[in-house]
Amino acid sequence: MADSSTSERLLVTAALPYANGPIHIGHLAGAYLPADLFVRYQRLKGEDVAFICGSDEMGVAILMRAIREDRSPEEIVDTYHAQIEENFERFGMSFDYYGRTTSDEHRDTAQDFFRVLDEKDWFNLRTEEQLYDPEAEMFLADRFVVGTCPVCGYEEAYGDQCEQCGSTLSPTELENPRSTLTDATPELKETTHWYLPLEEMQPKLEEWIESHPEWKNNVLGQVQSWFDDGLKDRAITRDVPWGVPVPADVAEKHGLDAEGKVIYVWFDAPIGYISFTKEWAAEQGEEDRWADYWKDDDTELVHFIGKDNIVFHCLTFPSMLMEHGDFVLPDNVPANEFLNLEGQKLSTSRGWAVWLHEYLDDFGGERGPDLLRYALATTLPETKDADFSWEDFQRRANGELADVLGNYVNRTLTFAHRYFDGEVPPLEDPSDADEAMLDALSDGPEAVGDAYEQYRMREAVYETIDLAREGNKYFNDTEPWHTRDADPQACANTIHVSLQVCAALAILIEPVIPDAARRLQDMLRLTNVRSSTPANDPDDAIGWDDAGQPLLEVGHALGEPEILFEKIEDDVIEAQIEKLRERAAEQDSDSTDTDMDYADLKDNISFDDFMELDLRVGTVTTAEPVPDADKLLRLEIDLGFEERQILAGIAEQMSPDAVVGTQVVVVANMAPKEMFGLQSEGMVLMAEEPDGTFVPVTADAENGSVVR
Ligand code: MF3
Ligand code: ZN
Repeated sequence: MADSSTSERLLVTAALPYANGPIHIGHLAGAYLPADLFVRYQRLKGEDVAFICGSDEMGVAILMRAIREDRSPEEIVDTYHAQIEENFERFGMSFDYYGRTTSDEHRDTAQDFFRVLDEKDWFNLRTEEQLYDPEAEMFLADRFVVGTCPVCGYEEAYGDQCEQCGSTLSPTELENPRSTLTDATPELKETTHWYLPLEEMQPKLEEWIESHPEWKNNVLGQVQSWFDDGLKDRAITRDVPWGVPVPADVAEKHGLDAEGKVIYVWFDAPIGYISFTKEWAAEQGEEDRWADYWKDDDTELVHFIGKDNIVFHCLTFPSMLMEHGDFVLPDNVPANEFLNLEGQKLSTSRGWAVWLHEYLDDFGGERGPDLLRYALATTLPETKDADFSWEDFQRRANGELADVLGNYVNRTLTFAHRYFDGEVPPLEDPSDADEAMLDALSDGPEAVGDAYEQYRMREAVYETIDLAREGNKYFNDTEPWHTRDADPQACANTIHVSLQVCAALAILIEPVIPDAARRLQDMLRLTNVRSSTPANDPDDAIGWDDAGQPLLEVGHALGEPEILFEKIEDDVIEAQIEKLRERAAEQDSDSTDTDMDYADLKDNISFDDFMELDLRVGTVTTAEPVPDADKLLRLEIDLGFEERQILAGIAEQMSPDAVVGTQVVVVANMAPKEMFGLQSEGMVLMAEEPDGTFVPVTADAENGSVVR
């Protein structure tokens, strides 16, 4: 259980987005929207919250993009930081502070953190031979080097990871390494780096994680599998020309030269949460107040992230915090899984994504952000991957926001204006139906609130819209259009109760659709409601818990009803789907026209060599993800005469659903190999298109047929 009600203040962070590209719906559904829902709920509760985020502007990914585009890293981060910040704001992200890791405060804070840990002798220093590009005069970290994967033989594996089989690699493990900067063959050169001693930290981390059985299963499962594999020390410095510099004094202490050495981005970025809290406090004119949030045990720290960030927020950053000693540890890390789009994995390189800035341009006006917030909030990948589709978006907008919520509000207010002079009529001798509705209303804040506190955002939103659904049903059942003549007080009761339900909804729905909530509050002339954005509310402001009680007094004058949500027409949705398909097709043909990078032909083989291969037709009967191996799918394949289990490195390109039922060609006499604790008994043939898309080689033939 979350215990925000018992702690004095909340510090909520959302993963710092890399400032090297725009935000898409996958980012929003992973970390940002759930964080914003949670924070807005907490502010309405009256909790003291600091909501901190900012751009992650260091790191090799940004440097690589700069090199590729022939711009400076500064230009890249300036462009994307501004764009991301602006679009977050338009989307309604209610950060207290949005910083940048290129700030001086951040550099100082990260360097101090590094210095403190170094003084405690916590790091391991290792001198090793690493790959060095003699032409670029640069060490080749991570993605600056490609080569052949020692595990699966894939020829384009990166220095830190093989995209084919998912193995984590280090650059020196690659066979035939080449520099991605100059194509040169790297040399080995000695260099010294600082390592996080994760191996020795494992018992302490295990104990800490065990003290949090309440965390989400997907998070605990992932962490457990890291423990099972055994944690390994991780280098947290790099020899690259972009990043927070390793402090000269610290290097000197070890007899080293700091020149050219920077702190690894995954060490400095989470420290950004601290730097930005400092910057925020200073901006508020309360320099020292940041320490309340980071040093007082009565703070609850919550990190909202996507699943690819789990290891950093559950293991590496906490180990740094533990060892530093001055700071609180996270109370929860409610990570989400991934969001797919129209049944396919999101892919920025293939253009298969809905970009926030484009969405906001297409769905301009005040209602746009709320529509997307609602559609995503009801589709969050909280326990497993989820799928966003435009038709679902339309169904939710029209069926739930317009028909359920909008209609209920509209008919209630219209009735009040037409028959009760636009004032709240009195409630007298309530019927069982009236009482039941008021009971449901009084349960609302707690039911919805509990779901938010347990990080079940989807459920919270369903519960909220359910209240509107119940309201509609109550309105239908009590038939005010009949009682108006037959039993005027019964009619007054229906409208009285319905107005109270609308007032409660105007507050409870605010975390999800803040703009519509404010418009509804205006329509009801419900004033003095606490703000869900950073503000100093008066003590007597109406808050979340008050929403369980009737908020409107008898005789209170209401505003005019206006349409809360217009329906979205089919052509609008079709245009979005069309845009997506066009762009994907364009990307595919682009890469065929311009980047056509045909793989080199291999040396000739003899006919006998070919006959060594046993190729068979089979049908994929099962396909599922392999825990921890983001790139692999575990397939079961029916070869007619037997079933095989094959691990295929296709998870990034194909969803399990897309593969099941497909007939494929299998290398049936491939020596079995173990990966991630599973046996792989063969290989599935895939045609790889120039842009990296995989197309299964299929054969419409009986399973077990020999291919030759
Ligand atoms: N930039 C990282 C990403 O997008 C997230 C950084 S989170 C932080 O995956 F904690 F390091 F800041
Ligand atoms: Zn591999």
